[in-house]
Amino acid sequence: MTPRISVTVPATTANLGPGLDCIGLALNLYNRVTFEESSAGLSVSVKGEGKGIIPEDETNLVVRAAERVFQLAGRRPAGLRVVQENQIPVKSGLGSSAAAVLAGILAANGLVGKPLNQEDILALASEIEGHPDNVAPALYGGLTLVVNEAGKLIVTRIPIPKMSVAVVLPELNLSTAEARTALPTQVPLADAIYNAGRVGLLVRALETGDYHALGVATQDKLHQPYRLPLIPGLTEVFEAGQAAGAAVALSGAGPSVIAFAPAGHQDIAIAMGEAFATAGLKSRYWVLSVSRVHPALAELID
Ligand code: HSE
Repeated sequence: MTPRISVTVPATTANLGPGLDCIGLALNLYNRVTFEESSAGLSVSVKGEGKGIIPEDETNLVVRAAERVFQLAGRRPAGLRVVQENQIPVKSGLGSSAAAVLAGILAANGLVGKPLNQEDILALASEIEGHPDNVAPALYGGLTLVVNEAGKLIVTRIPIPKMSVAVVLPELNLSTAEARTALPTQVPLADAIYNAGRVGLLVRALETGDYHALGVATQDKLHQPYRLPLIPGLTEVFEAGQAAGAAVALSGAGPSVIAFAPAGHQDIAIAMGEAFATAGLKSRYWVLSVSRVHPALAELID
């Protein structure tokens, strides 16, 4: 039978307010990628989110990531049929490129006999994609903290109780690269201290499900204030979410916004969507829960 492998990789929200480039949470929206060896050539088919935007050729991110694995393994299939079934919206701040890269690496790795271990996969995906704070939760599931120690990524998984979040995505074309250039190269010491304390509080508040503390713990001075002008109505969207009882943060580099609350997620999402509408932006929303899927466990199907 033709070797075939499927992997399922979750969406991720990074930063969660103060944890710029180090904290990430996996959410239950998934991209599923299937690789099937074929006799020759490459075919790529994209279904769902990103159809018509994501390239269906060798420039596809899933394919490029897979190619790196084949190079490292010194082994490649004669031909490859790739099918992407995407739930994660592209350019949304929900880790769609981290999911694509990881899916490509995991599927290729499975196809050539798993030469890469978890640590290799984390390092390679982060090198290709550039955002370990998305890659780590997508690879390990749940809430993760990642630090770079002299070029080596150290991941800590932080167990948290089951929880739901609301995510609101405005119709706005904002790339991570663009949102990145809005950031300063230096920040005041007081702002670094403001965030350092809140990262600790954020971890503790999520571990204990303390939504009251999350209101303070999701505050940030390192990136959100600089990104605010890029997203029309963002201040009002935050205020609407907070008024509806949520702790609110930009999801990754945006433009989506994530809201933590013990209940009432749909109402919170609708209130934030209305604030986007007032600023002239259409939006979509999801009520999601934390994903604990472990994509690295993907096995050959046939
Ligand atoms: N931590 C990155 C940023 C996340 O905020 O730019 C990108 O998803």
